[in-house]
Amino acid sequence: MSAQERILELRKELHEHNHRYYVQNMPVISDFEFDALLRELQDLEAANPDMFDPSSPTMRVGSDITKEFKQVAHKYPMLSLGNTYSKEEVREFYDRVMRGLNEDFEICCELKFDGTSISLTYTDGKLVRAVTRGDGEKGDDVTANVKTIRSVPLVLSGDGYPTEFEIRGEVLMPWDVFERLNSERAANGEQLFANPRNAASGTLKLQDSSVVAKRGLDAYLYFMLGEQLPAEGHYENLQCASEWGFKISSYTRKCKTIEEVFEFIDTMDVERRNLPFATDGIVLKVNSLRQQKNLGYTAKSPRWAIAYKFQAERALTRLNEVSYQVGRTGVVTPVANLDPVQLSGTVVKRASLHNADIIEKFDLHIGDMVYVEKGGEIIPKITGVDLDARFMLGEKVNFIAKCPECGTPLVRNEGEAAHYCPNDTSCPPQIKGKIEHFVTRDAMNIDSIGPETIEMLYNYGLVKNIADLYSLYPEDLMFLPRMGAKSAENIVAGVKTSLQVPFERVLFALGIRFVGATVAKRLARAFKNIDNLMNATFEELVAVDEIGERIATTVTAFFANESNRELVARLKEYGLCFEVSEEEALLHSDILKGQSIVISGVFTHHSRDEYKEIIEKNGGKNVGSVSKSTSFILAGDNMGPSKLEKAQKQGVRIVNEEEFLAMIGG
Ligand code: IVH
Repeated sequence: MSAQERILELRKELHEHNHRYYVQNMPVISDFEFDALLRELQDLEAANPDMFDPSSPTMRVGSDITKEFKQVAHKYPMLSLGNTYSKEEVREFYDRVMRGLNEDFEICCELKFDGTSISLTYTDGKLVRAVTRGDGEKGDDVTANVKTIRSVPLVLSGDGYPTEFEIRGEVLMPWDVFERLNSERAANGEQLFANPRNAASGTLKLQDSSVVAKRGLDAYLYFMLGEQLPAEGHYENLQCASEWGFKISSYTRKCKTIEEVFEFIDTMDVERRNLPFATDGIVLKVNSLRQQKNLGYTAKSPRWAIAYKFQAERALTRLNEVSYQVGRTGVVTPVANLDPVQLSGTVVKRASLHNADIIEKFDLHIGDMVYVEKGGEIIPKITGVDLDARFMLGEKVNFIAKCPECGTPLVRNEGEAAHYCPNDTSCPPQIKGKIEHFVTRDAMNIDSIGPETIEMLYNYGLVKNIADLYSLYPEDLMFLPRMGAKSAENIVAGVKTSLQVPFERVLFALGIRFVGATVAKRLARAFKNIDNLMNATFEELVAVDEIGERIATTVTAFFANESNRELVARLKEYGLCFEVSEEEALLHSDILKGQSIVISGVFTHHSRDEYKEIIEKNGGKNVGSVSKSTSFILAGDNMGPSKLEKAQKQGVRIVNEEEFLAMIGG
């Protein structure tokens, strides 16, 4: 079989496996086998650039080419739906439709997915464009990002699809992915997403599609538009779309009577709790396209469809007290302490009050009756006050001016709603939080110390900062409650083992805001040791690839703080690793900084993947195809003829294996 044939065969196979795994949830090969096929295809495509295809399964890994999104006008405007909150209103909608049509009709009931909407255009069975809703008239072209969503078919299967059509749906982030993402963000001191909807839309707007590819988005489709759709019914069109490979929810029902509609609503209000993603209601659509056309549109929404929103579960209870919580990053959150109340199956005693503005807006007084809701968010929140139930005016709730933990006056950055405690070196919850971060697995990996131990060590005055951990002796610990000789020794041994942890992880463990594991790696490689990093100027920091102003600001602020410098000095004395190992240093350089390099052909000294790694470790970028901005081609034997021709045309230099190795110093 020729390379060309094999490429086509692999593409077909991989599209099928993708569909089985991400749409049907029925994989037939292991992840390992899938990756092997994908890698084979990647290599073949790299060696045969004339076989480039924007719909290839290899396009799903994304690329780090940064570009602003292009604005694209929607062919058909993206309208929104009218909302209803009661069965009464649903009945009114039903009656309106009945009067408008004056004939029998069916209603298609579907889930209302709580994500961000997307419009996909397919031409000749290939995904050509994906655009966000934007203002309804025009949106952002996010095609590169959407291609990374595995459940979105790049190429349709079967036949019978129109040569050109649009299909719309919702991009979602499943609950488990959302929770994982937020805990990673917490570890990096980054702001958390309030709910999966914000996380999905935030992710879709990222400039780097290779990051999007790792975020685990999913997509359900619910609306087809075009000139030559396969069926006259909306429901039937969705069934066809499912045959072509789209993910269509099986919780879709065609109803002939309003009773059936209500039945669906009631069933789904319970069933939705078992779904792996967020939903916030049911959408009702007149099924016949002819009837839809007859009913038409108002300025904002169709007359043939409506959304029924689930009641966010809400309860009324008394506000007894407002307390304030200080997080690891110093953010102060007001918390309402309530008379216990039953809410979606659990007893709620505390709920978030968000920030000072919200307290002010509600004009909250102690003793007020407040509404608590569990929305898409995990923590219940206060959503209102029942002023009619206020018969005695309690003390007005005023946001505190000083940190409840350390007494430091709070600050509020311009344009931000949150108050911060700026005392990040000696405010107790901030310190305990920093120590908790320091010992985590991706940081110093001291698993003999958990949050409870930290609490105890701190309360007994044994550990006041991360450096104090290294001055502990088993004898100091043995007298603590519930601490045997064995566990005391374990703790000290765990701390000692952490001295082996490499520089990049020590840097991550310091808990500098926005310096996550990846950024720490970049900084460690760029500056080689802590002294260089501590003395780096803002300009030197932003000159490093992928270090932006936001990170440079927090890094310089961290090291400008005298107590942080002292802390580092102490950690150094205890023997923590503050420079990259010689081996690492030898392997890494910035010799190829700013260079875009195409790899082509077959090599003798290293494999193609090894060369990719070498390029990256030396600061270069590996790119897929030759363009004007390509710095050079690293060419082995049998370089693809079209690549060669393109290179000659563009005047791109060709470097052979030996020359390349000499370039990076052997
Ligand atoms: S149909 C003209 N169906 O709800 C009809 N929308 O306010 C267009 N949504 O922007 C929408 N699930 O993001 C439709 N099954 C569903 C939906 C759905 C969620 C979202 C969509 C739209 C908003 C309408």
